Amino acid sequence: MKKIVLLSILALTTLFAQVDEKVEVPYMPYEIKMGKGFDAIEANCLMCHSFGYIINQGPQSRQFWHEKVVKMIHHFKAPIDKEAEIATTNYLFEHYGNGKEK
Ligand code: HEC
Repeated sequence: MKKIVLLSILALTTLFAQVDEKVEVPYMPYEIKMGKGFDAIEANCLMCHSFGYIINQGPQSRQFWHEKVVKMIHHFKAPIDKEAEIATTNYLFEHYGNGKEK
């Protein structure tokens, strides 16, 4: 019985053993470039994951971005129709492209 009381006191004290310092959470700015076609990204891509997946790829060719959109459709069953496939690819290449078609 004593052991249980002692253990629960110990457990309780750890609850109050918080750090007094202010914790700084790193601020990660995701540069989402608004513009023509962003609504297509919002409607077709962001329901599954954050914009970070797009930014992490770096500047890429039109073909690269098109293949990514197609991958989302075929592998992950994203409900993206032909019109949205074109709109999202155009947006991605325009804002996160490297200027190369291939
Ligand atoms: C149905 C859900 C879904 C939708 C909608 C979706 N994705 Fe994804 N996406 C995924 C999954 C699942 C992954 C892989 C996650 C992982 O590997 O951790 C992924 C990964 C990615 C990646 C990382 C690179 C890679 O090849 O895996 C990129 C870039 C990406 N998605 C872009 C897009 C774009 C652009 C759109 C809109 C055109 C989109 N996604 C829509 C589910 C989706």
